[in-house]
Amino acid sequence: MSALIRKAVFPAAGLGTRFLPATKSQPKEMLTLVDKPIIQYGVEEAVASGLTDVIIVTSRGKSVIEDHFDISADLEAHLAAKGKHALLEEVKKVSSLITVSSVRQGEPLGLGHAVLMARGLVGDEPFAVVLGDDIFDAKPPALKQMVDVFEKVQSPVIAVERVPQNDVSSYGILAVEPAPEVGPGVHRILDMVEKPPRDQAPSNLAIIGRYLLTPDIFPALEATKSDKSGEIQLTNGMKRLLQDRPFYALEVDGVRHDAGNKVGFLKATAYFALKRPDVSEAFTEYLKSLGFSRSL
Ligand code: UTP
Repeated sequence: MSALIRKAVFPAAGLGTRFLPATKSQPKEMLTLVDKPIIQYGVEEAVASGLTDVIIVTSRGKSVIEDHFDISADLEAHLAAKGKHALLEEVKKVSSLITVSSVRQGEPLGLGHAVLMARGLVGDEPFAVVLGDDIFDAKPPALKQMVDVFEKVQSPVIAVERVPQNDVSSYGILAVEPAPEVGPGVHRILDMVEKPPRDQAPSNLAIIGRYLLTPDIFPALEATKSDKSGEIQLTNGMKRLLQDRPFYALEVDGVRHDAGNKVGFLKATAYFALKRPDVSEAFTEYLKSLGFSRSL
């Protein structure tokens, strides 16, 4: 029997140190690109890919993320009374998108540990993990492309991208063999290594922030030891499970921005501003006045 992917886990319990001081009292996930919090781009992608449940792994001080996806009766009444119907629809859309639940990760003990915290809410079914920092502009949406592969192989599927050789030590890197019989851009994973030194990387195929996993990842993560920095890495948990079952990688067809670092965040802001009909013209004029001429 083939299993459907309904649930998406959004790990959001990290400290966001690269955006301090902005993230001192505000979650990184709520920083905005144009006028939408980073995390909403990922949630909208999940909805557009047919998923129905979002599970946010949060920590102290991050309850505004849950509030963002909740109904805001006062705000809705205010906008209705003022006749601001377009904004009202926009605000209502957020809360009607999806069912949201959350679980706390008491200490930031790593991405693998954050995923393990969601075990009770995920249960015994395959699920997605979405790192909100990675924002895709893709058709079909990145998660949908992955779901299509998952439906064929009924095994975990990880999104990957070729990165410059100089950057391999910032990513989980894969050794793979091509699997064209499954589909274009699909590889069978032979090995994975977290943040290898440049000269030891088996390729330049880097794991990026979308995973479709099966529930056997949970015992594998439980059995995975913390690394030197005291964190349980998701890559190490997956590497353990790779001994027992096939894993696939998909080179997603689309544009990805890593909004988790300052320059990537600025690039994503410019990219989405230039694609937005309500601001693109004025923004293009502004860029021109600075001496830039490119538009999307
Ligand atoms: P990052 O490595 O980007 O860490 O985590 P971070 O804390 O968000 O940001 P910096 O590096 O300090 O600036 C990747 C993803 O994993 C989550 C983060 O919230 C982010 O979505 N994460 C990481 C957790 O949920 N828990 C952890 O213990 C670690």
